[in-house]
Parts: sequence; C-alpha cells; structure tokens
Amino acid sequence: MEYITFALAKGRMAKKTLEIFEQIGITCEEMKDEKTRKLIFTNEELKLRFFLAKANDVPTYVEYGAADIGIVGKDTILEEGRRLYEVVDLGIGKCRMCVCGPESAREVLTHHELIRVATKYPNIAKDYFYNRKHQTVEIIKLNGSIELAPIVGLSEVIVDIVETGSTLRENGLTVLEEICPLSARMVVNQVSMKMEQERIQKIIVALREATRIEGRIV
Ligand code: PRP
Repeated sequence: MEYITFALAKGRMAKKTLEIFEQIGITCEEMKDEKTRKLIFTNEELKLRFFLAKANDVPTYVEYGAADIGIVGKDTILEEGRRLYEVVDLGIGKCRMCVCGPESAREVLTHHELIRVATKYPNIAKDYFYNRKHQTVEIIKLNGSIELAPIVGLSEVIVDIVETGSTLRENGLTVLEEICPLSARMVVNQVSMKMEQERIQKIIVALREATRIEGRIV
C-alpha cells in the first residue's frame, strides 16, 4: 500500500485539524510533540504521512502531487488558483474576506473612482473589483498588518480577512463590503483522487460526517 500524504497549513488551524482527524481515527502521535524539529510524520499502521507547510504553499504541494490531500483556508485556495479538487468544508477557522476602510471611504466605492486597494490577496482583490464590481483600481500588495495602509495614507481601502473585527475596531476602520465567507477546506490532487479513490473517498465521507456533527454542537 502507498502512503497517502497530507499537507497541513501551519498554525492555529493545524491543531484544530488534527483534533477533527482524531475523531475519524486518523491519528499521528509524533506530530503532537510541539518541540519537535521533524518536518514529516508518519502513521505506519494506516500508511499515512503528514507535513506542515506555509499556508500559501499547501495548494502548490497538492497540485504537483507532493501531497495527495491538503487542509488549507479558502482564502489561500482562491488566491493561489491551483488545479485541485476542493471536497470538504471543515467548518473551522471561519472568517470573511472583506473590503475595509474608514467609514469615509464608503463613498469612493460607489462612484467607481480609481482608488488604491492594499492587500495580501491581490488575485482575490483583482477578481472582486474587476470582474464582480467592474471597477478599475490600483492594487498594492502588502505582506501583513494590512490595516495600516488606509491609516497612513497608502490606500483608500484594503481587502483583508475579518474574523472578530477587533483589529478593525481598534484602528478606526470598518467593513465596507463583504467579498465571501472563508473557512478551512480539504483539497485533493486530481490524479490521487482517481488512483486512491477508495481510501480518499472514505476520508471525505468520514470528515463530512464529523464536521456535520461538530456543526450541530456549535
Ligand atoms: C489577520 C487579518 C487581520 C486580522 C483579523 O491577520 O489580516 O489583520 O487577522 O482578525 P480580527 O478580525 O479577529 O481582528 P493576522 O493575525 O493573520 O496577521 P497579518 O496582519 O500579518 O496578516
């Protein structure tokens, strides 16, 4: 039997993902050791392998088949635009992709003015403004603390993730438009889906069931 390899996005979501995996009998004891410097972990009994990667790289590993399955946020899936199958919404890491800014910027969004939009997600921003709103904008790519941009005058608005909304509130900004809801998704390599159909399908069914039950409790 071949290994099935999982790429998990590093960080908060990886921990929650492993908890859901445990519920469906997919365990990996060596991965729980937070001090370990190991990069790849195996469950020999189930012939499974796991590794943690930067979220942006997860779709790349999956598209090229270096991982059969990936667990990653919908934001990253949309931004990377890789060829893969998105099969399960795990219902964790729920947040929203939004256009945000000071209340005073609401006006410029309705007038189709040429405004500057700062974001870590240029593809999502481009798609939203060009294809959905038909508004020409200048998109400025930043790598973090996006909320700074309208405060210091780099851009009129930002496209960013909003979870609790407290970063916006504490900086005098607000949600101006909602682009889409986000959460963690399971993605599958297109060839693996055919070659390992039975084993992967079992995981999909179990995960769907586990997240459905989880959803009911929440
Ligand atoms: C994300 C996002 C917002 C913040 C939203 O940033 O970019 O800044 O979380 O969360 P909230 O609505 O609960 O305040 P992250 O912490 O990932 O860091 P970053 O600024 O480096 O992107």
